[in-house]
Formats: sequence, C-alpha cells, structure tokens
Amino acid sequence: MEERIKKKNSCCPSNCYCLNNQSIATYVKLNQLQSGSTTISKIDMEDGFEVDLVDALKTVVQDSGWQCLGSVTDLKKNKCKRFYAEDGEDVVLIYVPGQNTFYCMDAACSHEGGPLEQGDIEDFDGELKIVCPWHSYDFDLKTGISSSGLHQEVYQVEVVGDKVYVNYPEDLHTKPCKIRLTFDVGEKWQKREITTLGHMIPPDQPKRADQLNIVAPGKEKRRGKGGSLASRISNLHSLANIEQWAVDLSWDIVVRFAHVTVDGKQLPQEFFDDFIQVAIDEAKHYGMISTRLKALGSHFGALPVHNALWDSATDTSDSLLARLAIVHMVHEARGLDVQPKTLEKFAKNNDPESVKVLEVIYRDEITHVAAGLKWFTYICKNSQPALDCIPTFHEYVKKYFRSYLKPPFNTEGRQTAGMYEEWYMPLVKPK
Ligand code: FES
Ligand SMILES: [Fe+2]
Ligand SMILES: [Fe+2]
Repeated sequence: MEERIKKKNSCCPSNCYCLNNQSIATYVKLNQLQSGSTTISKIDMEDGFEVDLVDALKTVVQDSGWQCLGSVTDLKKNKCKRFYAEDGEDVVLIYVPGQNTFYCMDAACSHEGGPLEQGDIEDFDGELKIVCPWHSYDFDLKTGISSSGLHQEVYQVEVVGDKVYVNYPEDLHTKPCKIRLTFDVGEKWQKREITTLGHMIPPDQPKRADQLNIVAPGKEKRRGKGGSLASRISNLHSLANIEQWAVDLSWDIVVRFAHVTVDGKQLPQEFFDDFIQVAIDEAKHYGMISTRLKALGSHFGALPVHNALWDSATDTSDSLLARLAIVHMVHEARGLDVQPKTLEKFAKNNDPESVKVLEVIYRDEITHVAAGLKWFTYICKNSQPALDCIPTFHEYVKKYFRSYLKPPFNTEGRQTAGMYEEWYMPLVKPK
C-alpha cells in the first residue's frame, strides 16, 4: 500500500518524501482501526451499516491532513528538522531521544519569526521546551505555550510502523520548492537584500519531481473543450506544466546571461528586475493553477506532461537575442493568442473561479511579451553597430525557431505588449 501511495504523490517539484494527504489519511486511519480491538470488517458485519461507515470514513479522510514525513530511522537522526509548506507556513519536527518521541510545531517563532529548527531543547522543571535562537523565548513541546505568554501552534504526530505522520493541512516538503524559492529570492532582490548576481552555470535541464510522467510532446492526454470536469482538469494541468517551465526559463535567462555585455557594457539592473518579476509572476501562476487543480479534486502530476518548452531554452542557450526572440516573443506571444480561447472554454462551462485565474495570468503574460520585446530592442539599438530590430527578429526566428508562425493571432493582446503586425506577419507561411 505504501508504494502505491508514494507513486500517487507527484505534486512536489523538490522531490521530497511527502505523500498525498488523502491517501495517507486513509492509510493512517486504517492502521489505527486495524491495530485496535475492532476491525472494519467486524463493524460491517455486526452493525450492518457498511455504506454509512464508508461515507463517514470518506469524510474523515477528506478532512484529515495526515501525511508522512519519512522513516523513523531517518528522522531520528535530526534533533530538529524543518519541513516546508508551499505557502510558507513551515513546521519543525522535533525528536527527543530520551522519550523516543516526536513533536511538531510551527517553525517560525511567534515572537519575531526566528527559526525554531535552530533552537535548543531544554528541560524546565520536567517540562521539555524548545528555546528560540533569536531571543531565547521558550515553547513547551506538547502545548506550544511559552512562559513569555506567546503561543506556538502544535500538530499531532503519530508513528505507524517505521513511518512518522503529522496532521497538518498543507503538503510538506523536505526542501523549499521552486515556487517558494522564487518568492523568497525574488523578494530579497526587490528589497535589495540581494544585490549581486554571482557566477554560476545554470543546469542544462532543471529538476522535476521524479514521479512526473514525462511523455513526448503531443502524447499527453487530449485536453478537450472543457465540457467535462476531466477536460477542465486536463487543460489546467497542461497550463501548470507550462507555468512551471516558465519559472525555470525566467531564472535561466537571469543566471545564464548575467554577464553578457552590450557594446562593452553590462546589462542594466532593470533587465534583471524585469525578469525576476517575470519569475515571480510565473511562480504565482503555477501556484494559482495548482490550487485550482486541488479544488477540482486533482493535483499537478496527476497527468502526463511534456518537456518541449525546455527545448527552446536549450536551442537558445548561446544567444540572449535568440532567447528573447524565441521564448518571450514567439512562445509567450503564442500564449496570448490561445489564452482567450482557453478562457472562453472555462467561462462557457460555468467555472468562474478558473476564469479569474486565467484573467490574472493573461494580464501578466502581456507584460512578459513586452519585457522580451523591450530587451530585444535594447540590445539591437545598443549593439555596435546598431541592429535593425524587426529584420533582426525575423532572422533569429528563422534561424532558431525553424518554423512559420501560425495564425490566428491575438492582434489586440500583442499590440498591448507593443508587438505590432510588422513583427510577426512576415513570419507567417505565404499562401
Ligand atoms: S524571534 Fe523567537 S524569541 Fe524572538
Ligand atoms: Fe505564466
Ligand atoms: Fe510568462
């Protein structure tokens, strides 16, 4: 059973060991029932209310937040270990060897947010407390109550077999996921807490959750017209995949081209401001779609996905002009062309919540195409000798995209981004 549960969870981009809430809840509840004196089958036979019992269990499962954090053996190795939630509400799992017991509470100290996983466990007259490393406030491991009067939220922990389970409403991960990291680093850049770019070679291909079922482009499930729930989930799932790659593409352009010079000068800070904002937007888009998928009873990773978007990153890894042209001015502009139709599918099928999400994405994506165009133009104009922007764009698309652009175009959306017909109409196959 555990293997099956592990495979079901594929929503975690950071590949951690956390599992699907609903499945884990089933697992834990069944284990608890079977290990007691009464078994499910005995209740069924004696009371004859199998259907009621199953319904009741379903509710328990749906309302429960039990999830596995890992094996007892592994988790005993750390006195305190932080687990990351996508929304930033992390928890710390604390192991007390003397009691052979695990405790769990919010990781950010309720005083000023200090990292409790770096705190010490101390004995206060027989009561075990964690002491925050920042200002030494103490919190009782069982109750979360502090002698300062503050209170830290605590969560139930159960050990079943060799696994540790915690009852927490959000999926927990062993590392902050891409989305969290993007928000954290993006915010630090925008507040100028990070001011230097550093030097690193970005990965040839960013990591994806091991459990994702990657298929060749075009071999994913047919998305359909949104008439059924399955079709709407499939459409959203495909968009979540695009958004997740878009997060990687945004960071890749920042890191890979950090030290490119134009006429002997570094790119201005505004270039990095723009693409870090794009990364934050893409992370927000992924988060919104992922939340929507969960609300519809699915999750990212439930369906096969393709990696085609990254092919364009690989093809353009040696040229910033090519990257801007293909990723931001061809693919993202193509996104503007298809978005109104996707939106219409959801509107027609009475899904206003998804429509709201798609509207936010559409508005942001216009600014991404605009950023691509702005920096493509900047480089052309500041090159020595200056390049003619539109013919250079056509040249790069022919060289790197190697295909005609397909109408129909969203003329209005493209125009709002500053991309007029002379940019793209000459790239359409002549009749
Ligand atoms: S932040 Fe924890 S005691 Fe101040
Ligand atoms: Fe996006
Ligand atoms: Fe985008």
